[in-house]
Amino acid sequence: MGKDMMEKPIIKGASLLQFPIIKDHRGNLSFVEGSEHIPFDIARVYYLYDVPHDAERGGHAHKELQQVIIAMSGSYVVELDNGTERKDVLLNNPRMGLYLNSMTWRVLKGFSSGSVCVVLASQPYIEDDYIRDYDDFLRAAKRNG
Ligand code: TYD
Repeated sequence: MGKDMMEKPIIKGASLLQFPIIKDHRGNLSFVEGSEHIPFDIARVYYLYDVPHDAERGGHAHKELQQVIIAMSGSYVVELDNGTERKDVLLNNPRMGLYLNSMTWRVLKGFSSGSVCVVLASQPYIEDDYIRDYDDFLRAAKRNG
């Protein structure tokens, strides 16, 4: 990641990244260059859309996977938990990316109508990489911490 890249810590393992913005009378343009703005090589992009307001996504951590989550449109809340600290983050700005290391339990909720959540991921989809049981997560977090 470029040394000029702004990174605001949230809890250990999670931080907010701010991407460049080019503004003119035609509107805003932001861009993401993998090697410059993302702290890992991007192996996959996936996106969530048409998520009902009362639905929850996520509800897991990972063994290896790192991700950057962007609210490309609309807003939603990401509940973060690293086994020691917890914090809720409102994502509502397409210029910001929420970096999560593997050992961050995350729940995404409160999606506004029409919102689009884009996720940049460090690995392809590997089901075995998921930690879906919260007690397993806490045990792994204690071992790591
Ligand atoms: P999951 O990661 O559990 O969803 P959430 O966004 O709520 O964390 O994935 C839901 C389903 O989609 C699951 O069956 C796996 C599948 N999936 C893929 O096939 N590829 C992917 O890149 C992702 C993220 C999920």
